[in-house]
Amino acid sequence: MNYTVQEQLKPQNLINISQDQVDDHWNLYKGYVNQVNGLQKELAEMRANGQGSSLLYADRRRSYGFEYNGMILHELYFGNLHGANKDLNNGTLTEEIIKTWGSVENWKADFEAAGKMRGIGWAILYADSTTKELSNHFIPEHHIGVIATGNPILVLDVWEHAYMVDHKAGGRAKYIAAFMENIHWDRVEARYDATLQEKAIRRF
Ligand SMILES: [Fe+2]
Repeated sequence: MNYTVQEQLKPQNLINISQDQVDDHWNLYKGYVNQVNGLQKELAEMRANGQGSSLLYADRRRSYGFEYNGMILHELYFGNLHGANKDLNNGTLTEEIIKTWGSVENWKADFEAAGKMRGIGWAILYADSTTKELSNHFIPEHHIGVIATGNPILVLDVWEHAYMVDHKAGGRAKYIAAFMENIHWDRVEARYDATLQEKAIRRF
């Protein structure tokens, strides 16, 4: 499969996140799509040439996991952002959040704390596809610490490139506060509903 940039996911008119910041970040996402396509081609050529067990192939295979998850997580991240500032509904996701953390405010504090952890990566609210339980995680880089049976319900990019246009390196807390104002809750809730219905979440 040749992957394409999912232009329909590009956020516009976010609150306290500039369009310059979004555009800059979007260009990085495009790079992941290009890298995935390039690596797929390269890996297929190497297999065809009998190099499938080579050290070079193994190195490229590791890169493939990094680039592939980089592409997917960016699509999920951009897909769960919009500037309409719509609140979380009083539905099944809210009920599960309250059941797990005691209140939406407690969940939010825990999720934001995951996003403020030292190091580059992602804060992700997962719904386990087997137990349906929710949990907040920090994922270093794109491919380390990913929850094997977890559906990413809400994805927050905390690599510095996500906020360096709007803020300096110390601006992560301001960026996270802005992110929380721009969550596309309808889409997040749809991902949770898909999990409950034993369906794959929509990536785009
Ligand atoms: Fe990013």
